[in-house]
Amino acid sequence: MIEKLDAIGSQALKDLETAASLDRLEQVRISVLGKKGALSEVLKSLGAVSAEERPKIGAVANEWKRKIDAALELRKAQLDKAALDVQLAQERVDISLPARTPHRGALHPITQTTQRIIQVFSRIGFDVVTGPEVETDYLNFEAANIPADHPARDMQDTFFMGPGVVLRTHTTSVQMRMMRAQSWPVRILCPGAVYRSDSDATHSPMFHQIEGLWVDQNVKMSDLKGTLLFFAQELFGADAKIRLRPSYFPFVEPGAEVDVSCFQCRTKISPTCRVCKGSGWLEILGAGMVHPRLFDVAGYGEDYRSKNLTGFAFGLGIERIAMLLYGIPDLRLMFQGDVRFLNQF
Ligand code: PHE
Repeated sequence: MIEKLDAIGSQALKDLETAASLDRLEQVRISVLGKKGALSEVLKSLGAVSAEERPKIGAVANEWKRKIDAALELRKAQLDKAALDVQLAQERVDISLPARTPHRGALHPITQTTQRIIQVFSRIGFDVVTGPEVETDYLNFEAANIPADHPARDMQDTFFMGPGVVLRTHTTSVQMRMMRAQSWPVRILCPGAVYRSDSDATHSPMFHQIEGLWVDQNVKMSDLKGTLLFFAQELFGADAKIRLRPSYFPFVEPGAEVDVSCFQCRTKISPTCRVCKGSGWLEILGAGMVHPRLFDVAGYGEDYRSKNLTGFAFGLGIERIAMLLYGIPDLRLMFQGDVRFLNQF
């Protein structure tokens, strides 16, 4: 019996030493030490052995069991370590690789320009007011002194939404809403999208405007000029100049177009300047003194006549300012959503 045990034991040790996986290890364990394993089967016949032989055989069996347990443990540790080494090699992280930079969003040049302009005017007391883009014909046109048969309607190719309803062609409509809703003084800035049926490199059917309105007693043309000069110098540099050219808008009288000196040419006008085309001036906005008819619509008519209530208004296209500030050659680039373009701002 001892020979049998020795044979089983040494075979088991050999099998364990060469076991290539944890599964194989478990197979060997069960086949030797399991309930029906070889060692257990031998010990079942222990009853047939004489009383003095029995302890000897028991001791041999226990010794083999101990050796086999030790061998199991050793081999298991070796296999575990090998598996870990493989895993570590596979999952190796190269910490010297450059990190993947996350995609950061940025504010659209129109948003940035809008914010810059608002910042400038808020420093001199203008509040921002917004209104609807779908507007009544009345507030967009009639209230701003542009009656149905007025030729000035042709200046703004209108999108009609239905009888008496349009897509606003300027944010003058917001000024009219504001004045009808509250009393003077009014000092507001109205940014927002406006719509005109027009499309080329410098016109888009949807674009953005900021219009300003200041109504109070004794607001003068010189206040308008001073305000716009402040604005121009804040936006284009301290040496910027402005000039006013007489112009016509139905909602102001007198009206003017306002130019700012070319920030590219600075002191010496270059005949080949890309920005001003050699003129030295850039047209940036329309402005003027609020037409008295608008005060009647607003309910300010009495104060206009008895309290010297006056006001000025101005309006500018944000895309045009952004194109000038950032040197953008084509307006349409702003609406194509191309990240290669947008990432530059
Ligand atoms: N509403 C004018 C336009 O859209 C701009 C403007 C506003 C001109 C105020 C003069 C005074 O063209």
